[in-house]
Amino acid sequence: MSSSIYDLKVMINPVRGGQKPDYFSRPEAEKVLRFHQTVPSYRPTPLVALEELAGKIGVGGIYIKDESERFGLNAFKALGGTYAMARILGRKLGLPEDKLDFGYLSSLEARNKAGAFTFVTATDGNHGRGVAWGAAQLGQKAVVYLPRGTARPRVDAILETGSEAVVTDMNYDDTVRLAMQKADENGWYLVQDSAWEGYTEVPAWVMQGYMTMIYEALEQVNEKGLKPPTHIFLQAGVGSMPAAVLGFLVNDPAIEQIKAVILEPHNAACIYHSAAHKDGKRHAVKGDLQTIMAGLACGEPNLIAWDILRDFSYAFVSLEDYFAARGMRVLGHPVGSDPRIISGESGAVGAGLLTLLMEKPELEPVKDQLGFDEGSRVLVLNTEGDTDPGNYIDVTWNGKYSLPNGRELTYHLD
Ligand SMILES: Cc1ncc(COP(=O)(O)O)c(C=O)c1O
Repeated sequence: MSSSIYDLKVMINPVRGGQKPDYFSRPEAEKVLRFHQTVPSYRPTPLVALEELAGKIGVGGIYIKDESERFGLNAFKALGGTYAMARILGRKLGLPEDKLDFGYLSSLEARNKAGAFTFVTATDGNHGRGVAWGAAQLGQKAVVYLPRGTARPRVDAILETGSEAVVTDMNYDDTVRLAMQKADENGWYLVQDSAWEGYTEVPAWVMQGYMTMIYEALEQVNEKGLKPPTHIFLQAGVGSMPAAVLGFLVNDPAIEQIKAVILEPHNAACIYHSAAHKDGKRHAVKGDLQTIMAGLACGEPNLIAWDILRDFSYAFVSLEDYFAARGMRVLGHPVGSDPRIISGESGAVGAGLLTLLMEKPELEPVKDQLGFDEGSRVLVLNTEGDTDPGNYIDVTWNGKYSLPNGRELTYHLD
């Protein structure tokens, strides 16, 4: 059970604004995209408008960016790992960042010049799979550490790339410290998707890599003749992905007013917890971080990400696991002619929250505070597919993590 007595905790960010992060500007995103386009399996992931669902729940639009199709890896994460590894190799080879080419970096010539690299990382699954896959494609080695309790299919997906995968007896944050120690001991390159004092360059590259997802999404909104989104749901682990996406959005005058709502599971809500302190600083949450949203089970916010999320998020939300399960069922069982989307625990939480907010009368004050009405157009990033297939079946077939029956959902609004 969660430690929270509320199903949902919501905090509207009282002060928004600050220095815009030039690291996440459109010109930077274009360099990243150009690199990703050189990855052989690159193609833009789909953006689908769920028109019938939008009509049914009473919003103006629901746009799902479906990252379950990214590079055939079932999650968005390889966007970051591949870009960071390319930057590391590019530096060794003296290549400027706008000349990075995946084909060249994986060529025999480049490997002979750059030498053999071992990349190391800690992961709850998706990031490590991306690093392992990218390293294998680049003809380099990867060693991946995973926290205790990692679902077996996530470990197997890493082993299948030929990389080493080690399940520790620690939680996520301690596993990151172990990976850092192994990098120091062995002269390996740490490719971590979080930043802390003294370790910011590589994670900033990882975060830049994620911009391809939002860059493509906005292009697709335009191409399809859709109206721009008014809201975006951003699910946070350490906050790298949401901060990269939000950093990009606030740099774009056409969409900087979008309301970004940060979502986290109660037991790992380090961004919410940091915001709740109201001192502008990062604060960790401790413990085993238990949640079905494995990708979000992180207790320590990314140093770079926190400043962006603190300054530009519209609201912070912490919630129970069954919001994610609800989203998995909703997206897997479409209304009318809407397409079916396979969405895993960390990918589905936005859809789960949106449908419940619009449906449950007891959540109306929350809906109003977040500014949802019949004109709202919501961008949801389905950041993963069924990365834990056993749990996917348990949730969608067997009704695991169902809504609490016979009582109203409770919330705390700050
Ligand atoms: C599927 C999925 N969604 C969202 C996230 C959150 O990303 P971040 O940890 O950068 O906040 C992760 C992180 O691993 C993830 O795997």
